[in-house]
Amino acid sequence: MEPIALLKDKRIVLGVTGSIAVYKAIDLASKLTQAGALVDVMMTEAAQQFVTPLAFQAVTGRAVYTDMWASADSALPTHIAHVALGEGADLLVIAPMTANSIAKLAQGLADDLLSVTALAARCPLVFAPAMDGGMYSHPATQANITTLIERGATLIEPDEGRFASGLVGKGRLPDTPTLIGQIRRALARSGPLAGKRIVVTAGGTREPLDPVRYLTNRSSGKQGYAVAQAALDAGAEVVLISSASLQTPIGAQLVAVDTAQSLHDAVLEHSAGADALVMTAAVADYRPATQAQQKIKKSDGDLSLQLARNPDILLAVKEMAQRPKAVVGFAAESENLLANAQDKLVRKGLDLLVANDISATDAGFASDYNRVTLLGRDGSQTAIDRSSKSAIAEVIVEHLSSLIVKGSA
Ligand code: PMT
Repeated sequence: MEPIALLKDKRIVLGVTGSIAVYKAIDLASKLTQAGALVDVMMTEAAQQFVTPLAFQAVTGRAVYTDMWASADSALPTHIAHVALGEGADLLVIAPMTANSIAKLAQGLADDLLSVTALAARCPLVFAPAMDGGMYSHPATQANITTLIERGATLIEPDEGRFASGLVGKGRLPDTPTLIGQIRRALARSGPLAGKRIVVTAGGTREPLDPVRYLTNRSSGKQGYAVAQAALDAGAEVVLISSASLQTPIGAQLVAVDTAQSLHDAVLEHSAGADALVMTAAVADYRPATQAQQKIKKSDGDLSLQLARNPDILLAVKEMAQRPKAVVGFAAESENLLANAQDKLVRKGLDLLVANDISATDAGFASDYNRVTLLGRDGSQTAIDRSSKSAIAEVIVEHLSSLIVKGSA
């Protein structure tokens, strides 16, 4: 698991209650720790029937709390465990959370470390119910969940599927990436882009030749998805317009496209009045002039293709009545990187341009890494040596925040 800037040094209290899904919480605690969070686990007595505190201690490297009467570790703000755990915590996550624990919190009961801590804590609460389908859909459980939501807690909806009992229904704890995605959403709520709408495009467009063939390029969508995730981590509402088939970041609204024309139409629709547009997509400049209705048959001679020009989306955005407040373009260049990029910055009316040298073999298209120079409309230049696409996305989003929040690059 790569470090996640948003999680770095965040103190997350993870409450674990008695469910077979506790084994998934060990993975959650491990991944949060690997991502940079400080995870303090507290376990109910029932949770300890399934796994021991040692399992959590081993993956978090921190003390695990089980006893309301024991003192807190000296690294925490006070020695009183139920106060110390919540005090200064960034987030309280309860996963898995049983129907009994949900009922106790809804009622304000305080008879074990988890329920007392939840009452004492002033940080936001995220909870992930896990239980049999009948228990989850029971009106009493649903009423208690509604009570917690009305008090500001965030529900992570359980998945549908097969339970340990063999029955099928809704009540399974989601997998770790989903839990971490929801935790990121909760932590991002007060981020610099909170309340801002950012449109991000990703992937290479596909231009059909006949029903089975198309022209495309080597873009995987990784850089665009990393930008979308970084914008989400900064608290933005994100519309991701994509032709790629990667996992949509939790919280993003996905708009699926394929051709340059469909990308053009989606960009104009969704970016009208948006706070920013980030055009990471690798758009085909040309498409086959005609699309054969049947599969093109092989013949003895060569086959010539006639190509027609696709619209330039960024030039169309430049002319929009409700142009986004900030527009970021990318430039994929194999020669004269900075000169060509500077030309695109001016010609396409951009606020920021991210120039890629795509001649490099250790970064760029389809790689997990990129090497870029950010060119600002104000003449600024920021070179970023080979870094993960996530790290580059964070720098792009920092620049974006300056552009739309502070009004300068
Ligand atoms: O997807 P990955 O595998 O992670 O790779 C990332 C990437 C290399 C694709 C990405 O970092 C990148 O450079 N994207 C832009 C690729 C591109 O199309 O560059 P360009 O120089 O051809 O276009 C310049 C800008 O105009 C781009 O923002 C592009 O989205 C936009 N454009 C291009 C053509 C067109 N018809 N309309 C456009 O708006």
